[in-house]
Amino acid sequence: MSGARPSILLTGKIPSSVLARLESIGDVDQYRKDGVDVMPHDELVARIAGKQALVSMITDAVDKAVIHAGTELKIIANAAVGYNNIDAAAARERGVIVTNTPGVLTDATADLTWALILGITRRIGEGERLIRRGGWKGWTFDFMLGSELHGKQLGIVGYGGIGRAVARRGRAFGMRIAYTSRTPKNEPDADAMPLDRLLSTSDVVSLHCPLTQETKHLIDQPALARMKRSAYLINTSRGPVIDEKALAWALRMRLIAGAGLDVFEHEPTVEPELLTLENVMLVPHLGSGTVETRTAMADLAVRNVAAVLSGQPPITPV
Ligand code: DGY
Repeated sequence: MSGARPSILLTGKIPSSVLARLESIGDVDQYRKDGVDVMPHDELVARIAGKQALVSMITDAVDKAVIHAGTELKIIANAAVGYNNIDAAAARERGVIVTNTPGVLTDATADLTWALILGITRRIGEGERLIRRGGWKGWTFDFMLGSELHGKQLGIVGYGGIGRAVARRGRAFGMRIAYTSRTPKNEPDADAMPLDRLLSTSDVVSLHCPLTQETKHLIDQPALARMKRSAYLINTSRGPVIDEKALAWALRMRLIAGAGLDVFEHEPTVEPELLTLENVMLVPHLGSGTVETRTAMADLAVRNVAAVLSGQPPITPV
């Protein structure tokens, strides 16, 4: 680079105030195409050449082809906490730093998780659909009864920042907290337990683990069969943690009471059977989707780029 302004590839849209900050760091090549939100992979491979930094979105497959084409690349700053879209091992091999955005999206994601928990246990989506199609015939005593949360067990799979934020909200709703975690936490009011026990004893199971080879299809047919028939499954982590076809089967067979999903195995495609079922609430990957949080995520990604390009250590390396 030797004194020249660095070149930065930005694959998505970020708030203009944050974009201005990125532009103050270097020359920004931003992907923009009306009606095509995701940068095609071959274009990513072509445009990474000569760039010192990449600000990527979760929809970009930053694989070996991209990393090898980015011969001058110093940092991949993913504007997300999850970074399963990046071949982090290939980046490490090439000495490229990878950063993510932990912390800033914790509360927004925990809130959305709770929107799904309340939405599915109190049948909000089902009721809304009924009213909209003109099917509501009026109040009756036993009409569309839901399930209460007070005194029940919230089982959290993956007890990192988001899992713990979901637990805090759960305590406010009078729930007991159980969790699985690779590193047990010293919390007197939360029970660490193996996954099998968590699945068979929890009334709500909420997934907050990263997507890795070990967690792909962690919730498969046998896992679903282990859950209580009255239990609900919530996923705001990554879609492939659940075998979606198996979930559709379990919901259809009423092996579990319901599910709330923010993420899907093959986004933006949703397993067709899920669309036909009333006992599942579906939202389009909105976990961190607030103005405040998306601004903070973009800002943290840009601050990571600024740090690394000025020779400082990254703020949030993976
Ligand atoms: C993340 O940060 O990983 C979220 O899924 C993006 O919304």
